[in-house]
Amino acid sequence: MKAICLTGFMGSGKTTIGTELAERLNAPFIDTDELIEQTYKLSIPQIFSTYGEQTFRHYEEETLKKVSRDNCVISTGGGIIERSANREQLKEYFTTIFLRTSFHEIEKRLETDTTRPLWSKDVDSKRRLYEQRQPLYLEVADIVVDTDGKSTDEIVETILTSM
Ligand code: S3P
Repeated sequence: MKAICLTGFMGSGKTTIGTELAERLNAPFIDTDELIEQTYKLSIPQIFSTYGEQTFRHYEEETLKKVSRDNCVISTGGGIIERSANREQLKEYFTTIFLRTSFHEIEKRLETDTTRPLWSKDVDSKRRLYEQRQPLYLEVADIVVDTDGKSTDEIVETILTSM
């Protein structure tokens, strides 16, 4: 099986769905954000505050290049689609699934979140980022799954029947 890559905005459920999907497929689960933290021995907020977003994007690109392309489920950070090199990798080597969640739903889910540097901005900036990224998620997606109002099990079933 080609590796499955889950994409989508912050709070779209990539890690939760990825963990469950990997279990159902009996395949290893990889989270690129976790891998970045392990490799560079810094938390994501530390990378952003010490070195800035572009260093994080560089680490993210290097990490995506190294992950397995076979038989695993990968959860990515919401900004993975920002670099064209990553978009090319996603299109060529992975079955890419876009977990599409409305901005309204994401606002509800991340209401009290303080762990994501790009979510600490004002609402207009966050909405702009959300809007700018939608066409990029679509550009690389093999499968689009709308997640609003759906349970983890329903989303996993939808993915399994669409593959
Ligand atoms: C980011 C999303 C985060 C993490 C980093 C940057 C983004 O991952 O990679 O904070 O640019 O949207 P999640 O999508 O898992 O929150």
